[in-house]
Amino acid sequence: MNETIRKLQREAERIASKHPVPEFYTRFKAPVSIARKLFFRHPGVLRLRAIVEPQFNEALGHGLYHSTRVSIDAAVLLFIEMDSAKMKPMAVERLMVLGIFAGLLHDICRGEENHAECGAERAEEILKHFPHLSKNETGCISNAIRNHEAFVAEGTSSQAKGPREWVQLVSDCLYDADKFRWGADTFTHTLWHMADNQGLCPRELIERFPWGMSGTVSIIETFRTPTGRQYGPEIIQTGVEIGKEIYRYLLQHYRDSNDK
Ligand SMILES: [Fe+2]
Ligand SMILES: [Fe+2]
Repeated sequence: MNETIRKLQREAERIASKHPVPEFYTRFKAPVSIARKLFFRHPGVLRLRAIVEPQFNEALGHGLYHSTRVSIDAAVLLFIEMDSAKMKPMAVERLMVLGIFAGLLHDICRGEENHAECGAERAEEILKHFPHLSKNETGCISNAIRNHEAFVAEGTSSQAKGPREWVQLVSDCLYDADKFRWGADTFTHTLWHMADNQGLCPRELIERFPWGMSGTVSIIETFRTPTGRQYGPEIIQTGVEIGKEIYRYLLQHYRDSNDK
C-alpha cells in the first residue's frame, strides 16, 4: 500500500475510534461471543479457513478482514433471527456455522465478473470436501452467496432444496452482515485498499467521495432481516459520520495537492 494511502487509513482509524460502537455490537454481546468462538475454534470452520484464506485477495479490500467480519455477523444475525431459545443448541450451532461458511466463501470470486454467481459455483466445489454437510446445506450456502449482491433481484437456486425458511434466513443474514460493512468498515478498511489498488491519489478520492457517500446511504433501504432493518441504519449512519470527517480532512490537507 502506498505511503499516502496508508497514512490516510491510519487517520481514518483514528477518526473512527472516536465514534461510539453501534448498538448491534453492544446489545448482542452474548451471540457475538458465541459466533467468535465458532469462527476461531469450530473444527469445520478451521478447516474451511485453511482452504480459503490463502485464496483471499486483500488488494480489493474484500479479503480476510472483510470475510471474517461478515462471517461473524452472519452467525450473530442467525442466532438472533432464529428462535434460538426454542431450538436445540446443536441445531442453533449448525445454522450459525452455515452462516460462517457462507461468510467465508461469499467473496471468494471477488475479482471476477458476476462474483456472486461465480462465488456460489466455486463454493459448491470447495464444499465437496466437507462430506459432513448435507446437499441441502451446501445448496443453502451457495444460494446465499448467489444472492448477496446489493441492488440485484434475488433468485432461487435450483440446488437450494432445504427447508425454505432456513434457506431464506441464511441468505438474508449473509446479505445484511455483508452490508453492515458499508458502515465504518468502508472508511477504516475497504476504501483504502480499493484506492490503492486503483492507484487513486487523494485529489481523485476527493472527487469521488460525494458519489460514494450517496451509494453508502442507499443501502439502508435494502436490509432483509428485521434485525438488519432495526440495527443496520445506525451502523451505516456511523460510517457516514466517519466518512464526512475523513472528507473534511482530505479537503483540508489535499484539495490542491498532487500527492500520489
Ligand atoms: Fe460481494
Ligand atoms: Fe462482501
